[in-house]
Amino acid sequence: MVLKVAVIGAGYVGLTTGACLAHLGHTVICADIDPDKTAMLQSGRIPIHELGLQELVDEGMSSGRLSFVVGSHSAVENCEIAFLCVPTPQGEDGSADLSYIQAAARQIAPHLPHEAIVVNKSTVPVGSTKVVERALGRPDVKVVSNPEFLREGSAVQDFLKPDRVVVGSDDQGAALKVASLYDGLTTRVIITDPASAETIKYAANAFLATKLSFINAIAAICEGVGADIDDVVVGMGSDKRIGENFLRPGPGWGGSCFPKDSRALIKIAEGAGYDFDLLKGVVSVNDQQFDRVAAKVTDAVGGDVRGKTVAVWGLTFKAGTDDLRDSPAVSVVNRLLDRGARVVAFDPTVTQPRPGVPDGIDLAGTEVDACRGADALIVLTEWDQFKWVAPHDVAAVMAGRAVVDGRNLLDRNTWRKAGFTHVGIGR
Ligand code: UDX
Repeated sequence: MVLKVAVIGAGYVGLTTGACLAHLGHTVICADIDPDKTAMLQSGRIPIHELGLQELVDEGMSSGRLSFVVGSHSAVENCEIAFLCVPTPQGEDGSADLSYIQAAARQIAPHLPHEAIVVNKSTVPVGSTKVVERALGRPDVKVVSNPEFLREGSAVQDFLKPDRVVVGSDDQGAALKVASLYDGLTTRVIITDPASAETIKYAANAFLATKLSFINAIAAICEGVGADIDDVVVGMGSDKRIGENFLRPGPGWGGSCFPKDSRALIKIAEGAGYDFDLLKGVVSVNDQQFDRVAAKVTDAVGGDVRGKTVAVWGLTFKAGTDDLRDSPAVSVVNRLLDRGARVVAFDPTVTQPRPGVPDGIDLAGTEVDACRGADALIVLTEWDQFKWVAPHDVAAVMAGRAVVDGRNLLDRNTWRKAGFTHVGIGR
């Protein structure tokens, strides 16, 4: 069935959702409060770096199934389903701040057609379906939870080839209608109650964060006992119950979801009368990881980074995105700056200062330029292109020979042969 959909909030979740639903044949109007962003979208350009999204936006706009408007009013007035894709930032006490979602619900309430369905796509605390119902104040409008599991950089792929679609509602008819949006996809659809749908999202992210902190902790042990994390991961991951995915050690995990969602789940647990010590440990292992990786640089330059120049490759929280939010790379860089280092960074998506770029660093135009006169080089984001930089070109401009590979990305043998000391994670 082809449905008329409104998407409120054209951030990376909203825009991906809108463009993918249009690709599946639905008619979609995306609304955003930001006039500049909307004008850019109306002119056919997307404001984020997301593989395959521009093509889907082009397709949707030329087919007439995808359009953009400022403000939610006109987007919802003819819709059958309205998606709320607005931010749920971390509030001061760690819990999720629902003010954007409540405001969006209040704004659309008077304009929604009779018996429209409102869908919560944003990651919201358990119980938020009820919060949205109250904010709407429209008994004829059903609220459904349909959490996203989109990774930045592969959001389009994750949307169109999902591991599952989760729909949570107390109303069977509303749940089935929302599920029917995904009829074009071959996937498992899990229909459940709203609290379970909301819990699935938090539990999945917290579990993945646990996997990452676990492997980073095992990497630290590997360093102490002389084991090699790469082999340990293969050995562990071959057990089908564990799996190799999401076991890559690194400088810690970050991004717009894991840090805020882990903290929010700790709060949700607290409210439910459960002290989630395990997840608190996962978060604190991650904070320690930033310190451990920064300490590797200090060790590599002889025990004190004060006055030393450190070249940094990668600032985004992972490769394939230009997002700096809660980036582990930024956390490590800030630790180096606090200890008195001078930092020159190169990231293919960060060419000039912008919010999120640490104050006091210099940005270089190429990998090799970042290394000019540097005492040490640290790799913090796993951009594939870093693998192809010739160590000899780096050696020609760098003052020191220390490489700290925070992503185990570079070929250590090649770098060692070129005269570098290559230190990775868990090796
Ligand atoms: C995440 C979830 O994967 C997605 O399902 C959810 O809806 C939003 O949050 P994203 O924030 O895009 O997606 O990042 P993800 O690819 O999951 O990576 C999170 C962090 O873990 C990054 O800092 C990444 O570098 C790190 N990571 C991931 C590792 O260090 N090792 C790995 O093996 C995988």
